[in-house]
Amino acid sequence: MPVFVQKSHGFRLPENGDLPIIMVGPGTGIAPFRAFLEERCATGAKGRNWLFFGDQKSASDFLYREELQAMQAEGVLTRLDLAFSRDQSEKIYVQNRMLQAAAELWNWLEAGAHFYVCGDAKRMAKDVDAALHQIVQTEGGRSADQAVDYVAQLKKDKRYLRDVY
Ligand SMILES: NC(=O)c1ccc[n+]([C@@H]2O[C@H](COP(=O)([O-])OP(=O)(O)OC[C@H]3O[C@@H](n4cnc5c(N)ncnc54)[C@H](OP(=O)(O)O)[C@@H]3O)[C@@H](O)[C@H]2O)c1
Repeated sequence: MPVFVQKSHGFRLPENGDLPIIMVGPGTGIAPFRAFLEERCATGAKGRNWLFFGDQKSASDFLYREELQAMQAEGVLTRLDLAFSRDQSEKIYVQNRMLQAAAELWNWLEAGAHFYVCGDAKRMAKDVDAALHQIVQTEGGRSADQAVDYVAQLKKDKRYLRDVY
């Protein structure tokens, strides 16, 4: 099995440990966020941590279930939203969970949250990006063009970071 390292420039926690972070990492996209949570735990960072995780079936694909639940019980993981796509007849994806929690997600963004996405680039990251724009419009009362500007500013401020493949 060929293995290679693909560098991910700048995909890091904010230097200010008090800032909240929102992590969207379905499937293999969970990997960096496990490390983010461990780092925040190790450094005693006070910022709130919100993870959206999804995969096919909860019984077989809930990666790091025990670890994540333990972090949630300890309070390191402030909020965990799960999207198992094949546990029911209709597909439920991380972006559906984002939209269900739109008001709260907007509050976190306005509180300075950094927004991270890791995982599949072709479908997931595009749809998560669309959901983010939708939340800025509906919850932030922005037009479509203003939402584009808002998200562009997040990127410029390095508050919207993606490691997608
Ligand atoms: N070539 C491709 O099109 C493609 C697509 C995905 C992943 N991959 C590659 O496959 C490898 C393993 O992927 P992975 O383990 O990270 O899992 P994954 O295939 O990304 O699947 C993880 C979860 O994401 C769901 N998902 C599918 N489409 C989605 C969408 N549009 N928005 C949000 N979630 C969506 C999947 O649901 P369902 O499967 O039930 O729909 C599954 O529950 C990676 O190397 C990845 O790059 C390739």
